[in-house]
Amino acid sequence: MLKIEIIYNYSRNFAYYLLDLIVFVRDFLYLYGQNLLPIFYYWRIQMKVAVLGAAGGIGQALSLLLKTQLPAGSELSLYDVAPVVPGVAVDLSHIPTDVKVAGFGADSLGDALTGADIVLIPAGMPRKPGMDRADLFAVNAGIIKTLAEGIVANCPKALVGIITNPVNGTVPIVAEVFKKAGTYDASRVFGITTLDVIRSEAFIAELKGLNVADVKIPVIGGHSGTTILPLLSQVEGATFTDEEVATLTPRIQNAGTEVVNAKAGGGSATLSMGAAAARFCMSLVKGLQGEDVVDYAYVAVENGDAPYFAHPVRLGKNGVEEILSYGELSAFEEKAKNDMLATLKSDIQEGVDFMA
Ligand code: 2OP
Repeated sequence: MLKIEIIYNYSRNFAYYLLDLIVFVRDFLYLYGQNLLPIFYYWRIQMKVAVLGAAGGIGQALSLLLKTQLPAGSELSLYDVAPVVPGVAVDLSHIPTDVKVAGFGADSLGDALTGADIVLIPAGMPRKPGMDRADLFAVNAGIIKTLAEGIVANCPKALVGIITNPVNGTVPIVAEVFKKAGTYDASRVFGITTLDVIRSEAFIAELKGLNVADVKIPVIGGHSGTTILPLLSQVEGATFTDEEVATLTPRIQNAGTEVVNAKAGGGSATLSMGAAAARFCMSLVKGLQGEDVVDYAYVAVENGDAPYFAHPVRLGKNGVEEILSYGELSAFEEKAKNDMLATLKSDIQEGVDFMA
């Protein structure tokens, strides 16, 4: 009898303690939950970033920057069809930062992508002098389609940043692949247009003798030629004459060609593109981490100027949290926007048609 009573008392007391503990945890979270959130986010910032096309010019520059910039504990997964990719991974792994690097060859796309939070895609053929966009599209459309199918199969929830040109058309291809598979989430697919932003910052600082770190400029539209629209009228701390606007705008729009010609057959921008993509990736990381961050990207827009359009976007834990307005345009910008919309829309349609 006594034994039964002891066991009964023990169990009852244990139940009371358990209840007390539950109430304590509930009250604690209620009172201090908000302050604990950053701790949970800290765990989340150790993330896996996959770079597809990591052995190319952009891929190597981008991977180098991510090796030195990603939060401690992150993983960098390098995929390429070029057999040099394991070597790129070994090379980077000798840099003493707390980011693990692994290389994956042609047959290991699935392994490279499994568990990825962010996928960046610089894969594809770069532009050479004299090449037109159609030549580029013919080769790169097939590549981007295959890679998007890999994402569907291995990490359908990842945030996907597309660099492969022509971005105006490759972003719709990725979106169509995801739609077909039933995994499409418009807030997770980005065309990376940061190169247009950083070029604008560099050129404006140079022209106006400003500290480049202080220059901020919105760039909207698409990512080729006249579809790139820098909003010089919105640069704080600088004003531009009509003549300056008329020269600087096309310089920004044709900056890619400036590099292609200067490299004289050796390809297109790689280092500046790597820097731009790394900067955009870190914005995605901060968003996933719970920070309020606004950056520019080419995203799907409902009832916008075109089905895809580069806008300022608020980034968060699910990618795009909000597409922000690009504000008022000057008469010059309004005209430039209206003049380029037909080109942008036909670039987009080309991507959609490729998947039809
Ligand atoms: C550029 O704009 C390669 O997309 C890149 O130069």
